[in-house]
Amino acid sequence: MIQKYKFGKPFETEAVVRDIPCAEGMPKYGNINLEKGFRFTYEMQEKDMVYGLGEANRGINKRGFVYISNCTDDPEHTEDKKSLYGAHNFIIVSGEETFGMFVDYPSALTFDIGYTQQNRLDITCEDADLYLYIIEGTSAYDIVKQFRKIIGRSYIPPKFAFGFGQSRWGYKTAEDFREVVRQYRENHIPMDMLYMDIDYMESFKDFTVNKENFPDFKAFVDEMKAQDIHLIPIIDAGVKIEDGYDIYEEGKAKGYFCKQEDGKEFVGAVWPGWTHFPDVLNPEAREWFGSKYEILTSQGIEGFWNDMNEPAIFYSEKGEKELRDMVDAYAEDKSRGTYGITEKLQHLSNDPEDYRSFYHKVKGERVRHDKVHNLFGYNMTRAAGEAFEKIAPDKRILMFSRASYIGMHRYGGIWTGDNKSWWSHLLLNLKMMPSLNMCGFLYAGADLGGFGADATADLVLRWTALGVFTPLMRNHSALGTREQESYRFGNAEDFRHVIGVRYRLVPYLYSEYMKAALQDDMYFKPLAFVYPEDTRARTVEDQLMLGNEIMIAPVYTQNADGRCVYLPEEMMFVKFMPDGSIHEEILEKGHHYVEVALNEVPLFIRKGKCIPVADVAESVSRIREDSIQYVGYEGASYELYEDDGVSRI
Ligand code: NOJ
Repeated sequence: MIQKYKFGKPFETEAVVRDIPCAEGMPKYGNINLEKGFRFTYEMQEKDMVYGLGEANRGINKRGFVYISNCTDDPEHTEDKKSLYGAHNFIIVSGEETFGMFVDYPSALTFDIGYTQQNRLDITCEDADLYLYIIEGTSAYDIVKQFRKIIGRSYIPPKFAFGFGQSRWGYKTAEDFREVVRQYRENHIPMDMLYMDIDYMESFKDFTVNKENFPDFKAFVDEMKAQDIHLIPIIDAGVKIEDGYDIYEEGKAKGYFCKQEDGKEFVGAVWPGWTHFPDVLNPEAREWFGSKYEILTSQGIEGFWNDMNEPAIFYSEKGEKELRDMVDAYAEDKSRGTYGITEKLQHLSNDPEDYRSFYHKVKGERVRHDKVHNLFGYNMTRAAGEAFEKIAPDKRILMFSRASYIGMHRYGGIWTGDNKSWWSHLLLNLKMMPSLNMCGFLYAGADLGGFGADATADLVLRWTALGVFTPLMRNHSALGTREQESYRFGNAEDFRHVIGVRYRLVPYLYSEYMKAALQDDMYFKPLAFVYPEDTRARTVEDQLMLGNEIMIAPVYTQNADGRCVYLPEEMMFVKFMPDGSIHEEILEKGHHYVEVALNEVPLFIRKGKCIPVADVAESVSRIREDSIQYVGYEGASYELYEDDGVSRI
């Protein structure tokens, strides 16, 4: 049962697509105080668990920390961080009382989950203008399914997007890209996607391609396709201010960029230098921005990633001027010291004051950006998604975004942004997945191997072995870091094998993804959702259930020769061995230590079940259905989901 409560004058985020009449009075759970903004307080019982929050730091059980929904471009995902790139305001309290809550509020929202006071859940925000949905159900899992029904179906990518993708910030010329493909194909490491970061553009201008580096882009896209490689270019939120750049000129002439109070376009610096932000909350401007993706789809492009769409602002015109004035003042009078300047520099990017200084036009009204901040990435991706329905009505286009809000899950997936080549981030990747699924984001993954910092061969390999199971499987790294493509470490055969296992499992992973998407279900679940009666399973955070048949337990520590696992029931321990064979072993319910070498891929099949496993192929389109064999318990049957992988459903 879902009850919807209205407070003040909420902004219509369109996160929820189902019409639900508003209930009278106050929810039966917790206390609501409207004296200073909005405050929901609930006394948690000691054993209560709290799930949800999608893309957020820390564990699957969110208790014991404070999280702020405030889409933030912060590449330091250390344990103390309260905000990442997404704002997913759905939580479930599971225990003595079990209920879910979705706080549909597009500005900063704080979830203090036993941080200030161990047993108190406090949800607060500045303005008491929001919709609150309270969901009751028989279990946390049931509540997720009900929630997913009201927010609409999750995005379905083309099937090739279940292949492996290589990315790196710094590939620039057609030759750079060709070389990566050559290495993959010559080493027989499967690959379907090659990502194009900002350097493919002309001076980082959206929807342009550098002519010198790609004299005939369409021909280059075709050349890649002939090798079963899909090029996936990045699109950034900021549009470069440059006379003669048609998108800038058009947007300006039509009034489609976000404006300041004085009516002038807001100016913020991002990769291209000074930019304007398209007002994607204004349906007309959104349609206009979305239509530009056709510039690339008409050249054969079939997928994109939307970046910097929190939106990230390195500094604003105003911030830069203030800094300059401080530097000038210091030059004149050195006794002032440089402290103020250092402070200013530290707070120049993503300055809350800048977010308060521009506006969106929604239904004829001006809305200050900070009040709807968390909707920008969502609506940028929606711009693309809505445009694709017109540009390619019969075809699925790959799309994922960095910033997001619930609702965006209907238009695209997400990647989890600028993680680091740290073992702790491999584990964070694992833990985040079911929470994202709860909020509708099924097509998701992290930068395998880590984006920032220098990777090591073992980290990339272990992380790739987790990536075998995440719908988005992409190795990506930052400019200036150690190169971490699968062929860089002198053990290409190990990567060939591990990535090959992904391709062997595509029939299963795609089937489970499609079932989850079509039935508003989860692809990744915490063990507690499947074994709610098992008190030990309730606290397991480093193993996940995937689909209806398997459990995964990747190795996430360095120099380990295996790991401990907990089996809530008897299972078949399966290991994909480097020689292509499959190790199968029945393990009893309980605790085990399983040995997993660096180049092996483990999974566990639930009792009485089996999964389809194909022969290795070097691209998704080359996977041979007739090679499928079933691995698992004898006598078990499996329902394979099949379609052409391209048509919209
Ligand atoms: C930030 C993104 O998170 C990262 O993936 C990308 O490589 C850089 N922007 C450069 O475009």
